[in-house]
Amino acid sequence: MIEKSKVKIAIVGARFAADLHMDAYHNVPGVDIEITGVASKDSENAKAFCNRHGLDPRIVHEDVSTMIKEVDADIIDLAVPPFIHVPFAIEAAKAGKNVICEKPLTGYFGDQSIPVEERKNVGLTDKKIMFQECLKDCKKIDKVFSDNEVTFCYAENWVYAPPIVKAKRLLKASKGKILEIRGCEGHSGSHSPFAAEWKYTGGGSLIRMAAHPYGAAIHLKMWEGLTQNGAAIYPKSVIATTTRNRKLLKDLPPDVDYINSRPVDVEDWSCGIITFEDGTNAVIFGSDITLGGVDNWLNIYASSTRIECKLSNNNTVMGYAPTNKQFEDEYTIEKIETKAGWSSAQPNEDFMFGYPHEMKDFIQSVLEQKQPESDLRLAIWATKVMYAAYLSAESGQKIEIPSGFNL
Ligand SMILES: NC(=O)c1ccc[n+]([C@@H]2O[C@H](COP(=O)([O-])OP(=O)(O)OC[C@H]3O[C@@H](n4cnc5c(N)ncnc54)[C@H](O)[C@@H]3O)[C@@H](O)[C@H]2O)c1
Repeated sequence: MIEKSKVKIAIVGARFAADLHMDAYHNVPGVDIEITGVASKDSENAKAFCNRHGLDPRIVHEDVSTMIKEVDADIIDLAVPPFIHVPFAIEAAKAGKNVICEKPLTGYFGDQSIPVEERKNVGLTDKKIMFQECLKDCKKIDKVFSDNEVTFCYAENWVYAPPIVKAKRLLKASKGKILEIRGCEGHSGSHSPFAAEWKYTGGGSLIRMAAHPYGAAIHLKMWEGLTQNGAAIYPKSVIATTTRNRKLLKDLPPDVDYINSRPVDVEDWSCGIITFEDGTNAVIFGSDITLGGVDNWLNIYASSTRIECKLSNNNTVMGYAPTNKQFEDEYTIEKIETKAGWSSAQPNEDFMFGYPHEMKDFIQSVLEQKQPESDLRLAIWATKVMYAAYLSAESGQKIEIPSGFNL
């Protein structure tokens, strides 16, 4: 146990997710959090991050691996694209440091003997090979974390999102059995240049966006089994389909082309059906072709209750503006295309998405050396289900999900 109420964190990555994490750290009560290092591919980027968050730019490290090894930190926070999650997490564990890692845990990113910048059309690789390689990665990280007695915190914020936490309370009160889950994450395209290519992200809308509802649905069924019968209910099989709609839009004139996603070798829409061990199902959508701001929801159909969780696009505050100009400098909702007309202005999106709550659990888990609610087991199951979904989409078959690490 770390004998102190001060926790030192070094962050890898310095843009979108790193900003979310930093804002969340400010909202963890009762613990003094010190950021002792920042590293990213581009150190100018890391310095700009320090500027935005009032950090001393002297904590910027040029080299990530050196920082992980040498920095005085209890936690390495990985807010980088998925292709470097596992290698950096393993380096951190071997250096005796706990890890917070963004979703998804991992994936397939092409031939590791070729520099990532030079890899081409990784998305065309046989999905069975992808799935096998991905399982090897999961096995490796599982072993390293069990050998090194450090905590792995999987930054699946939906597990902590207040609407989902409340849904668990309602489910518990109703004593019902979850019969069906439907969930979605959608918007009109990522801000991140890494999102367009399989070699950086390990897939498209399925793994980048639907990772959240997949993670939440798997978590809910595991939790249901554990709380009702002392044994988690795991995913058994998945059937899925994926599409790249962008190819249908390539001739659109720019002034009527509202969808921002520009996938190179990844899908921009997906739907998967997970069947769990008890025969119940979850239907999960991931979409990069959804206009109107981020669309995050999860509905639960149980034997004694029905619950609808709306994480985004809530109408608590509706603001009208005659043109785009009035709200130009004021935030309304993530990834909205226009601020003209009525806007569903989210009063506290980070809170509704569960970022401060996940960081509170992660910090407490590290201090108390316990497993967080969103842990490596969930990260591995979500990865296995999503790669089985890719194999299903390619083969047109329902795919059994291995309980271990072999296909
Ligand atoms: N939980 C959420 O709601 C949420 C939201 C967005 C992103 N994410 C996840 O966060 C991670 C980062 O996404 P993002 O949106 O911040 O991307 P981004 O493109 O905004 O930022 C990526 C950062 O990683 C750095 N980076 C890239 N390659 C690197 C390398 N080889 N070595 C060191 N640094 C490197 C970049 O310099 C940049 O600072 C991804 O895993 C993504 O899935 C999660």
